[in-house]
Amino acid sequence: MSASPVTNAEAAGGNGMPRHVAIIMDGNGRWAKRRFLPRVAGHRAGAEAVRVTVKAAADMGLRALTLYAFSSENWRRSAEEVTDLMGLLRHYLRKEVAELHRNGIRLRTIGDISALEGDLIGLVRDGVELTKNNRRLDFVLALNYGAQDEMLRAVRGIATEVQAGKLDPQSIDQAMIEARLDTCDLPPLDLLIRTSGERRLSNFLLWQAAYAELLFVDTLWPDFDGKALSAAIADFGTRERRFGGR
Ligand code: FPP
Repeated sequence: MSASPVTNAEAAGGNGMPRHVAIIMDGNGRWAKRRFLPRVAGHRAGAEAVRVTVKAAADMGLRALTLYAFSSENWRRSAEEVTDLMGLLRHYLRKEVAELHRNGIRLRTIGDISALEGDLIGLVRDGVELTKNNRRLDFVLALNYGAQDEMLRAVRGIATEVQAGKLDPQSIDQAMIEARLDTCDLPPLDLLIRTSGERRLSNFLLWQAAYAELLFVDTLWPDFDGKALSAAIADFGTRERRFGGR
């Protein structure tokens, strides 16, 4: 089958907007280093960029925004930095969940949150519960998330059903795998952004990125804001997507 090329303005949300944008928030450490500040100051400024960008995404009419807040590999950072990141997350949730709710934003997570500290799991669950009926924007925090781990969990689930005789291996298809990913009820990923000039996916949404547009920007995450998000969306609107057709 051959599909004629369409720009993203036509293909995605119909209004030129990507439905689902995901961001690898990179560059907090370099932002701090340039200012002769400790790394935690970069992460703190990064948390402020999260606040501003989520609000902008809702105002622009995105359906979903997924932010890579803590990867399954980030546990390898120093104990001090892990504690700082968890502390910032705790502070963010305590301070911002009510504001998310006021703005009609639904909080979600992807990743295995069971490894987080108990009180943090509670804060996440409370925020998800409070905002569950909101429809303006799905704000998805990737917490202890790794795409390979996500796929592994999906495969294990399917294998368990096969072993129990409930599933014929021949009937396994893409939809069945997608239905078991953490992102199963989110809109398809249209645009994946990485800040700070690095050009890697770093184990983020590998399955979902199959046909997403990729955008690498030099901006360090703490300097990212609504204007930067608008510029990224404008870039997305100019691209042609073929989804494997010609
Ligand atoms: C990468 O910067 C960023 C992270 C490891 C995590 C992102 C965390 C935040 C934005 C702060 C807290 C988040 C929330 C949701 C409140 P880096 O340290 O790898 O930067 P570098 O590559 O310049 O060292």
